[in-house]
Amino acid sequence: MKPAVQSSSGRNIIELKGIIKRFYIGQPNELEILHGIDLSVKEGEFVSIVGASGSGKTTLMNIIGVLDRPTEGEYILDGVDVAKAKDRELSGIRNQKIGFVFQTYNLISRTSALRNVELPMMYAGVGKKERQERAKHYLEMVGMQDRMTHKPDELSGGQKQRVSIARAMTNNPSIILADEPTGALDSKTGRRIMDIFHRLNQEEGKTIVLITHSNELAEETQRIVTLKDGEIIGERKGSAVC
Ligand SMILES: Nc1ncnc2c1ncn2[C@@H]1O[C@H](COP(=O)(O)OP(=O)(O)OP(=O)(O)O)[C@@H](O)[C@H]1O
Ligand SMILES: [Mg+2]
Repeated sequence: MKPAVQSSSGRNIIELKGIIKRFYIGQPNELEILHGIDLSVKEGEFVSIVGASGSGKTTLMNIIGVLDRPTEGEYILDGVDVAKAKDRELSGIRNQKIGFVFQTYNLISRTSALRNVELPMMYAGVGKKERQERAKHYLEMVGMQDRMTHKPDELSGGQKQRVSIARAMTNNPSIILADEPTGALDSKTGRRIMDIFHRLNQEEGKTIVLITHSNELAEETQRIVTLKDGEIIGERKGSAVC
């Protein structure tokens, strides 16, 4: 493991200004879900987003992760103006800069943990030997070295989530976006997953944006952003050191 790094550089890696998201559900109906979000996240920061079901957290996360584009507003991701970038450039950014972790793991069921972790590197054109070495390294990091040949069906929920974190890490992204990563897990297993995030943040300097329903887990992060009906209604400091 690398030595501890300075967690926050002071530079904004995520910068959202006046983000509006509307969904068009058949003309002339449109549904405005995000009503002008201003949010900046510094490089190396660990931020959580909390809010009731339907408040727009996943919609916002999809925009942050460039899985979706805002209807209006400006998004600068690591110096790149997302609105001006072509789709191909965006998928490159997504693959190289961002690691996603989802509540439902999104692993491919018919193949092993090792192969699941290798997949993003295949898309990135990494050779077989390096791919396997890196996949093993990250699976070891999350304590899954004994389960590498297991398929997702042969793993517990917490183990699946650890595989999905290893997968998110493979292209060494600067940002990890996690949407309810502990939502389907019991509190002890959720605790273990949170410990991995803290380690990635403190030891590897990863910027982490975590969506959670758990106030307790949110409190552990550096900053808690509260979303209500598509607007940020508050921000406060958490207990993690910056
Ligand atoms: N593709 C879509 N088309 C139309 N409406 C959508 C679409 N995606 C999301 N919505 C609506 O946007 C609102 C916010 O949804 P979102 O998934 O962002 O909520 P959330 O805060 O993540 O909720 P949860 O905590 O339940 O995951 C919801 O009312 C939802 O119905
Ligand atoms: Mg959601």
